[in-house]
Amino acid sequence: MSAIAVDSDLVLEARDLHLRFGNVEALKQVSIRVRPGEIHAIIGPNGAGKSSLLNCLSGFYRPQTGSVRFMGGDITRLAPNRRAAVGMGRTFQGIQTYPSMTARENILTGFHNCMRTGMLDALLYWGRVRREEEAFAAKAEEIIEFLELEELRHTVVGDLSYGLRKRVDLGRAIALDPKVLIMDEPMAGMNPEEKGDLARYILDIRDARGIPVVLVEHDMEVVMDISDTVTVIDFGRVIAVGTPAEVRRDPAVIAAYLGKE
Ligand SMILES: Nc1ncnc2c1ncn2[C@@H]1O[C@H](COP(=O)(O)OP(=O)(O)O)[C@@H](O)[C@H]1O
Ligand SMILES: [Mg+2]
Repeated sequence: MSAIAVDSDLVLEARDLHLRFGNVEALKQVSIRVRPGEIHAIIGPNGAGKSSLLNCLSGFYRPQTGSVRFMGGDITRLAPNRRAAVGMGRTFQGIQTYPSMTARENILTGFHNCMRTGMLDALLYWGRVRREEEAFAAKAEEIIEFLELEELRHTVVGDLSYGLRKRVDLGRAIALDPKVLIMDEPMAGMNPEEKGDLARYILDIRDARGIPVVLVEHDMEVVMDISDTVTVIDFGRVIAVGTPAEVRRDPAVIAAYLGKE
């Protein structure tokens, strides 16, 4: 194997991931390199391995071989909650909000992972807990303003439209001040207006907070519009990496999409 240059500039990097489920080879030698401040889209036909790759990045799937580095450290063996604690924010496919809780309460659940105070500590040092809670309430308020949810902060999430619920979920994901935000098909099921709104918030998160975003997305117009880099996966392999313009004219990408969509 040839030596791979160490690129300390990368926020997140997976190398040579191989992931198998029984006979299914979901990922074969997959690598991805996420640079600071970039919006990095992962695209590919259904079943290509996109969600599997995100799950390897965030620790929900454990690849048989390969490594994942984050902020310069090897996190290949780190559990998902530990990855969240070191700065990986994540949203999942579909709805992950608690329907009977308000928008504000849902956003507050995002702080759970970073509560430094454990159960026993909580009993002994209730003062610190209170201080943490106050800090979280202030941060939740900041997020509510950032996502323009002021009017809805006390609305029960089950009463909100799909697009707004996804926006609350985004608020939950950025509560921890992540160093990277990983999103699986955030726009699936949204109408064009909701997609436009979410695209704007994703760009704002990157621009205002400097958080790089890794997202799987099917809507090619959105991908071409907001991404800096696109990694294309087909049958568990990376078949192209480049700018949106580069991958759009890549013959392997065109071939992968022809006859499938
Ligand atoms: N937890 C799992 N158990 C078994 N097979 C899985 C699991 N997750 C994904 N796969 C398989 O891995 C392949 C890639 O799936 P996935 O990563 O979900 O694709 P995509 O997100 O690109 O549609 C598929 O063949 C899928 O059935
Ligand atoms: Mg998927």
